[in-house]
Order: sequence, then structure tokens, then C-alpha cells
Amino acid sequence: MKYNFYAGPAILPHEVIEASASAVLDFEGTGLSLLEISHRSKEFVSVMDEAISLVKSLLNINDDYAVIFLGGGASTQFSMVPINLLHAGRKAAYVDTGTWASKAIKDGKVYGDIEVIASSKDKNYSYIPKEFQINPDFQYLHLTSNNTIYGTQYKEFPVTDVPIVCDMSSDIFSRPIDINRFDLIYAGAQKNLGPAGTTLVIVKKSALTKSSGSIGAMLDYNNHINGASMYNTPPVFPVFVSMLTLRWLVKNGGIEAIQRKNDAKSSLLYAELDRNSLFYNSISREDRSDMNVSFHLYNTELDDVFLTRCKEAGCIGLAGHRSVGGFRTSIYNAMSIEGVQVLTEVMKDFEDSHG
Ligand SMILES: Cc1ncc(COP(=O)(O)O)c(C=O)c1O
Repeated sequence: MKYNFYAGPAILPHEVIEASASAVLDFEGTGLSLLEISHRSKEFVSVMDEAISLVKSLLNINDDYAVIFLGGGASTQFSMVPINLLHAGRKAAYVDTGTWASKAIKDGKVYGDIEVIASSKDKNYSYIPKEFQINPDFQYLHLTSNNTIYGTQYKEFPVTDVPIVCDMSSDIFSRPIDINRFDLIYAGAQKNLGPAGTTLVIVKKSALTKSSGSIGAMLDYNNHINGASMYNTPPVFPVFVSMLTLRWLVKNGGIEAIQRKNDAKSSLLYAELDRNSLFYNSISREDRSDMNVSFHLYNTELDDVFLTRCKEAGCIGLAGHRSVGGFRTSIYNAMSIEGVQVLTEVMKDFEDSHG
């Protein structure tokens, strides 16, 4: 048995992988592969429709919002957001909580007036900044809900009248969100939603007030909305797998049920980290991520030995991001509680043999 702790592309439910493999061979009894049918075929149009409607029902999204599947990864949204939402003469506020937030800031500055109103860089991104003022004149406030690399997560979003734009790449569908607090949410699929290759965007239609023609066609959200996510050829396979993952989520009780499972997994892992004398986690307690748990051995000379032990027990993908070192366990929706139990047993045994 393998337990996949990679940060992304990441674990998907096994039944989703099986159904995807079967659709690659014969899609819906058409005798053709999913990879070779037209995106305009009635079979694929119904996949796209179902994917969008599952997103809407799982997150309680009303008709004020559009849901679209795009290509280009979450990183393309670092540009599309300011291009579409930020008007000349206005400013946008960004909070810098780590690598991905910094990249969003860097790209935002290419297109407009961006102000970094808070940052946790002073303490190596080990916490979520909370004490900051948000000037009501900002056009939007950009946040990154979960910091995949460092392992911090907003448990509450700032209360403000400024519309919030949020990169939820690594925790979307892991917990309930009040959609009405956001003007735009984006998420690369490859953590909680599907394989790499598609990005989900949820946008309040009334926020898209730039005149059409002032934005290059592929970068204009309106074109993708009007084209029902088929303005150009969509990433058919990633959208199909995402649709299956959303079906799996509904079948398993939806967002509230998955949040309970996610809480149980992260509590188990953090409890072991706090108990075990060999390891530590340097993230501020109230900001600890339920999706990406980063930790270190006090004795870094044992790093490789520990990784080998993990691998022997079937636990794969635990090396920390190359910029941070140590270890990182990504415990997205599809990770079972059993996987986390196996990992905590390895940690206990490691303490017995090396403590
Ligand atoms: C929070 C966050 N934002 C953005 C990205 C970049 O996503 P992509 O590789 O799809 O561009 C990642 C990738 O891991 C991420 O974790």
C-alpha cells in the first residue's frame, strides 16, 4: 500500500483514477477515448456542465457568480486578476504570506498599483498576519488562503468591505467558505480537485467592469464565461477528472463531512509532532494548515534516514519544499486517516530507535 503525501500534483481518490483510466480507453460507451473526442460533443459538454454545477452546489454559489475552468495554472491568475479587476488610478492590496503570494504580488505590479499591506516574511512566513488596516479605497484585497510551502492557513478571513480575491489552490473544497465574502476565487486543480492542467475560477460577474476589447481575448474572463469555459479548447482530461473528484466528494458527504475528516487527520499529525521529542513544527499554532503540515527533525543528519523509513512504510512524497527543507505532509481530501496513522506510527518508531 502506498500513501501519497506529495504537495501537488497530489493524491486523488483511487476510484477516480480507475474511472479516468477507463474513460481514456472508452469514454461513455462511445468506443472512442476521452482524449480524442471533440470538446463540443454532447458527451463532453455534459461533463463540463456537470463539473460546473457540482462546484456551484458544493460551495453554495448563487447566480451572481460565474464558474469557469481555464488552462494556464494558478500562476496565470496572478496576471489575469489585476488585468481584469484593477482599474487605472485604483490600487489593490496584497498580503504576503509566502512564495505563492509573493509571486502574485510580483506579477500584479506588472499591471497596476499594488500595495503590500501586511507580510509574515519577518518570521520566515511562519504565521498569518492579522493586525493590519485595510483602506476602504482599495479595489480588491488579494489573499492566499493556504500556504502550501510553509504550511500556514487562514482560519478566518479579514472582515472588510474591500472585495476579497483569494488564491485557494491548496485548500479549496476542504472546508466550507462563505462565497459572498469573495469577488474572485481561483485554484489550480492539482491538489484537492484533479490533475494538473486546469484552474478553477469563481468570479462575481458584477466585478468584471472593464470594457471588452481592452483585454486580450484569452485573458478576458468574460470571454471564458460567455463561452461556457469553451472559448478555446478546454483541458478536457483534467476537467473530466475534476468532475469525477467532485462527484466523489458529494458521495462522501460533501464539504462538512470532508472538513471533519481533514480536522481528524491534521489533529492526529500535529499531536504526534507536539509529542515526539525528535521533531518540531515552527508554525504559529493558530495558523497551522490542515492541508500541508511542515516539520523538521532537530537532528537534520537523520533526515535521509527518516525519509527512507517513511518510504519503507509506503509513505511517499514527504521531502519539504526545496526552499524550506525538512519535511512536508500534504493531507488533502483524498488522503485517508489510515495514511496519517501509518505515518505517525513511523514517527513513533523513529523516536524509539533514535530518541
Ligand atoms: C497556493 C498556490 N498558488 C499557486 C500555485 C501555482 O500553481 P500552478 O503551478 O498551477 O501555476 C501553487 C502551486 O503549488 C500553490 O500552492
